[in-house]
Amino acid sequence: MKRTLIFLLGTSLVWTAAGWTYHYSSKIMNWTLARQWCQTSFTDMVVIQSQEENDYLVSKLPNRNRSPYYWIGITKKHKNETWTWIGNNSTWIGEHSWAANEPNNNHSTEFCVEIYVNTGENRGKWNDEKCANRKYPVCYKAQCNETSCVRGRCHETIENTTCLCEPGFEGDRCQTAVECPPLPDPENGYHSCSAGNLTFNTTCQFKCYPGFLVNGSSSVTCAITGLWSGPRPTCTSYKQTLLAIVGCGAACALCCVCFCWLKHRKRKKLSQIRQPDEAAGPFSEVQG
Ligand SMILES: *[C@@H]1O[C@H](CO)[C@@H](O)[C@H](O)[C@H]1NC(C)=O
Ligand SMILES: *[C@@H]1O[C@H](CO)[C@@H](O)[C@H](O)[C@H]1NC(C)=O
Ligand SMILES: *[C@@H]1O[C@H](CO)[C@@H](O)[C@H](O)[C@H]1NC(C)=O
Ligand SMILES: *[C@@H]1O[C@H](CO)[C@@H](O)[C@H](O)[C@H]1NC(C)=O
Ligand SMILES: *[C@@H]1O[C@H](CO)[C@@H](O)[C@H](O)[C@H]1NC(C)=O
Ligand SMILES: *[C@@H]1O[C@H](CO)[C@@H](O)[C@H](O)[C@H]1NC(C)=O
Ligand SMILES: *[C@@H]1O[C@H](CO)[C@@H](O)[C@H](O)[C@H]1NC(C)=O
Ligand SMILES: *[C@@H]1O[C@H](CO)[C@@H](O)[C@H](O)[C@H]1NC(C)=O
Repeated sequence: MKRTLIFLLGTSLVWTAAGWTYHYSSKIMNWTLARQWCQTSFTDMVVIQSQEENDYLVSKLPNRNRSPYYWIGITKKHKNETWTWIGNNSTWIGEHSWAANEPNNNHSTEFCVEIYVNTGENRGKWNDEKCANRKYPVCYKAQCNETSCVRGRCHETIENTTCLCEPGFEGDRCQTAVECPPLPDPENGYHSCSAGNLTFNTTCQFKCYPGFLVNGSSSVTCAITGLWSGPRPTCTSYKQTLLAIVGCGAACALCCVCFCWLKHRKRKKLSQIRQPDEAAGPFSEVQG
């Protein structure tokens, strides 16, 4: 109870949402200690990656009438270095982030940044300051943890935490593997799949009962899209196959017979007419 009370006195929760939370201290500290405090009590000093986030943060922090203002997590080590955010080394700086005539490096050692949260015209703008100066820390606490997303990356934004799923997984925590639709057995056959489910990467083999032949590809695989790699094969009986072959053979034979018969008739007809200019025609060799 006591600890909670002290905690509440020393710090303030700015805003709770589904995404990260912002916190600040009512005690001023130099930049190094401010960051340490953030890392001990929360995740780290605040990181701003867009004008929208900047404006949101400013809208949630209590106004200060004059210096000191709040430390933010952008810094550099040497004069000629670029300003870099803590955490992931991002170098984002908005077009209108700096206050007028800033950063001015007034003391040639101004390698830390404060954000003006007041009602003046430089509200929400940044100013470079000596890191040894004492200001209010602003921290964030990440809401993402190892268990937030089962098969994906947790992404935090203002008031929102989202799981970006690996290919083949879906659901708000990426907890569901993509599945292909059920596969009924083919008529006169059966199938077995490599896993006890129909999740992607599963391969299913088709077999036909004795006396039947597989017609088509005998296996299909569930793709990451949730679709089978091809159509199910069908099972055709040997009898049917045989009949089909016999039928085709019979049809061919019939055609042959018809053709021969027609040819024969034509030849007969031609030989009866005996036209003299037929000699140049296609049946000349017959006549000759
Ligand atoms: C940031 O840059 C420093 C120096 O270049 C490097 O040591 C560090 O690993 C980087 N951190 C990340 C999170 O990329
Ligand atoms: C750093 O992190 C922020 C927010 O998580 C992201 O928007 C940005 O792209 C990252 N930058 C780099 C250089 O990784
Ligand atoms: C530089 O710092 C001094 C003392 O801290 C201050 O009086 C002066 O106005 C500053 N100059 C600028 C250009 O901000
Ligand atoms: C911040 O304060 C601590 C303790 O007073 C001190 O050891 C440290 O050198 C200071 N850091 C800066 C950058 O002024
Ligand atoms: C991890 O984050 C989720 C929300 O994303 C939360 O429900 C859960 O309690 C957290 N787990 C731990 C161990 O912090
Ligand atoms: C969170 O973000 C995701 C994707 O960016 C969006 O679909 C979802 O509606 C958002 N949820 C809330 C509560 O804003
Ligand atoms: C499907 O089965 C495979 C292998 O048995 C297993 O690794 C996987 O977790 C299962 N997926 C689902 C959604 O049950
Ligand atoms: C699915 O199969 C591909 C290719 O064989 C493999 O690279 C991938 O790791 C498999 N994924 C899973 C979740 O088993």
